[in-house]
Amino acid sequence: MLQKMATQTLGLNAEGLRQPQIIAVTSGKGGVGKSTMSVNMGLMMQRLNRKVLVVDADIHLGNVDFILGIRPEYTIADVVRGTIGVEEALVALNGGIDILPAAGAAPELLEAGDGVLQKLARSFKGLENRYDVIIFDTGAGISQLVLNFVLGCDKTVLLVTPDPASLADAYAVIKVVRGHNRRMPIIMTANMVRSHEEGDVLYKKMNLMVNRFLGGHIDFGGAILRDDMVSTSIKQQRPFVMDHPNSSTTKALRMINQRILKMPNDKTNEGMPFFERFILNRRKMAGDNL
Ligand SMILES: Nc1ncnc2c1ncn2[C@@H]1O[C@H](COP(=O)(O)OP(=O)(O)O)[C@@H](O)[C@H]1O
Ligand SMILES: [Mg+2]
Repeated sequence: MLQKMATQTLGLNAEGLRQPQIIAVTSGKGGVGKSTMSVNMGLMMQRLNRKVLVVDADIHLGNVDFILGIRPEYTIADVVRGTIGVEEALVALNGGIDILPAAGAAPELLEAGDGVLQKLARSFKGLENRYDVIIFDTGAGISQLVLNFVLGCDKTVLLVTPDPASLADAYAVIKVVRGHNRRMPIIMTANMVRSHEEGDVLYKKMNLMVNRFLGGHIDFGGAILRDDMVSTSIKQQRPFVMDHPNSSTTKALRMINQRILKMPNDKTNEGMPFFERFILNRRKMAGDNL
């Protein structure tokens, strides 16, 4: 009992290895700030003393490399093809986090047989216990591939903006994710709002809808204001957490990240390597579609 408590506090698994928190950053609509926030969240969590890996899992339109001004030699597609091991695809960033580029890997991941994915699962498993946090920057929407990434994670950060389309699409994401896993913690985070009150109102409205039509509730991460500094940082390919550590947006992100890290994880997949979860969910979804 005591040993179990100790390992849980330290984030270790039954084998005494580090057990990372696996967090999806997703949205209903594109262009709401997933990649911007994934990279800056990674850097912020690193400043909160976590060792972080960010996976660019927006398999069609990934742009983490562009946001950071890096030109990765390889992506996860090369790993799936068996050209390289996953380790060789990692990019170590100056800010102290690692990036795994995956954009462009859609055909490989969609068409890969279980055997190929099992190889990926083994190779990725070797990395997992080096990190405290792994962030998957997923694509937008409810395609099977996006869902498969989200359902493999321990908790989901759902980004919304005040745009009505973003809210309607976010509700669709909640509905589908809850349809597969009722216990998945969904942490709605408002981005590009004009005030913190606007963020609160968006959350309350969404939570009310969820409660009324789906049952249960979603959590609130907090709000990030629309800030020209964020878009300028993107154009300059310099993450704002590094260049503007004392800005109000960076401070808001710090509070949101502290809240996200503290929220309990879904235990459904505890201890199971990420891509094994991926294989399992893929099989389940194929079964649902028969
Ligand atoms: N809080 C913000 N304030 C101003 N611009 C933002 C903010 N968050 C994101 N953006 C801008 O929105 C655009 C889309 O962001 P991106 O992270 O690429 O979205 P996604 O990954 O969801 O498609 C980028 O040009 C970025 O600069
Ligand atoms: Mg993106």
